Amino acid sequence: MRCRRRFKGSLHSLIHVSLSCRLFATSAFSQKWLSPAAPPDRLPFSRVTQEDLAFFRNVLPGRTITDPDLLRSSNVDWLKSVKGSGEVLLRPQTTEEVSQILRYCNSHNLAVNPQGGNTGLVGGSVPVYDEIILSTALMNNVLAFDSISGILTCQAGCVLENLSHYLEESDYIMPLDLGAKGSCHIGGNVATNAGGLRLLRYGSLHGTVLGLEVVLADGRVLDCLATLRKDNTGYDLKQLFIGSEGTLGVITAVSILCPRKPKSVNVVFLGCETFEQLLKTFQLCKGMLGEILSAFEFLDSECMTLLNTHLKLPNPISDCPFYVVIETSGSDQTHDGEKLHNFLEEAMSSLLVTDGTVATEESKIKALWSMRERVTEALTHDGFTYKYDISLPVERIYQLVTDMRQHLGDRAKSVVGYGHVGDGNLHLNITSPAKDPALLAAIEPFVYEWTASCKGSISAEHGLGLKKRNYIYYSKPSQAVALMSDIKAMLDPKGILNPYKTLPDNPK
Ligand code: FAD
Ligand code: MLT
Ligand code: ZN
Repeated sequence: MRCRRRFKGSLHSLIHVSLSCRLFATSAFSQKWLSPAAPPDRLPFSRVTQEDLAFFRNVLPGRTITDPDLLRSSNVDWLKSVKGSGEVLLRPQTTEEVSQILRYCNSHNLAVNPQGGNTGLVGGSVPVYDEIILSTALMNNVLAFDSISGILTCQAGCVLENLSHYLEESDYIMPLDLGAKGSCHIGGNVATNAGGLRLLRYGSLHGTVLGLEVVLADGRVLDCLATLRKDNTGYDLKQLFIGSEGTLGVITAVSILCPRKPKSVNVVFLGCETFEQLLKTFQLCKGMLGEILSAFEFLDSECMTLLNTHLKLPNPISDCPFYVVIETSGSDQTHDGEKLHNFLEEAMSSLLVTDGTVATEESKIKALWSMRERVTEALTHDGFTYKYDISLPVERIYQLVTDMRQHLGDRAKSVVGYGHVGDGNLHLNITSPAKDPALLAAIEPFVYEWTASCKGSISAEHGLGLKKRNYIYYSKPSQAVALMSDIKAMLDPKGILNPYKTLPDNPK
């Protein structure tokens, strides 16, 4: 009953919340209210025995880790918000080894948590209980690169930034870029369908990934590692695994279409007085920069305060309520520079932007990008962070920040907005000095109801993981969730792959 009182709202939310309460009613925590993000009870998987360890050590000599000190970082997520108690970390190097491990785990009813760079933001990358951690860290070889087509084929554990450096030698770049590039793996990127800073230009991984090799729960290897731009032979199975968050199979290799390295790159950092002006700047920018526009990102003045306070990054321009990072990528510096100049002149003279700075050389480009990329890091110094990653019609995205601020009053420490304007993707983040269940109850389901009322998505790019699995119905109809559950049951009948993640505890 407590839950019902807490969440006054739409009928949808009442049904949802009462369902969630029932889900947890039988758990060890049944006496107190728990958020739908809290884990359900441990499922009846087997516990790892000495016999199992002997098997793993035989397949992975020296790469079966049980030392609790070495396991600690693999059990905690990047945000330090979720902690598992996995007792075994497996570090395969080959697809065949992954296959042997999964075949064994499936037949012995052992749960497995696939892990890449452990930079995920929804609690999907670490065990909830004692799931075996299957890391791709040692699967880090480039398998092939075709410098005519730009198609790269590599193992899943290649770090995104290393791939970028590798491609640079051949004048190519990766079609995606994100703040976590120094740690995240390409397999993790595909498993989460990561968006990032270049999606506006190069599209999502659903378009750029051409092939995948995946080991299924029972150890079968699904070789869909095609390197073709066009292939309409039957269903496009690889799409199922893009964004499946380790619940349908372990991605072991990826082939991906990479763009040529642009010869000319410019970055501008601008200030706007209102979000409306920021949107008009975006409109103008699309019209005047056209094919050379490669990113249009924003942060608000509260983000700037966090960058100044916690990371000592000075504001490169004068103080404004909103800041924009625009990147152009093209093949002719004179042509691009001229276009950018005309755009800036128009934006300034029509008073859409109040201040700005331009970078053409690499070190300044990097410095300006830091102002956007390092907001995530700055937030971790501000306190416990509640992260929301929302897709909305672009003209609505900042309204949610404003409404949330008003809704929370002084209950939150900071309420900030930043994100990928060009993709209609808002990152709404709220901090408090420490984890605060009362604050969480004030944020959720308010944030999800607000999003659903605009027909938005409650997860634009980070996935659902552990934290958001039970909120899926705010963005997907029950028929779609039921079909997802059927697919899961078909590919992983024992449910050993990343249990407690992505799908709701109790599908309707
Ligand atoms: P992990 O965190 O290890 O795992 C993520 C999920 O994928 C888990 O569910 C895991 O089980 C599964 N998984 C990992 N590898 C495999 C595999 N080989 N096979 C099957 N399943 C697997 N995300 C964005 O979308 N856009 C951004 O701009 C962005 N910026 C970020 C900036 C920072 C500073 C940080 C910390 C994170 C950011 N993220 C962003 C989130 C995160 O980096 C991405 O989701 C990333 O793609 C995760 O990759 P990873 O290798 O770290 O995967
Ligand atoms: C970003 O765009 O910076 C990332 O998605 C990470 C975040 O949301 O903090
Ligand atoms: Zn993002």
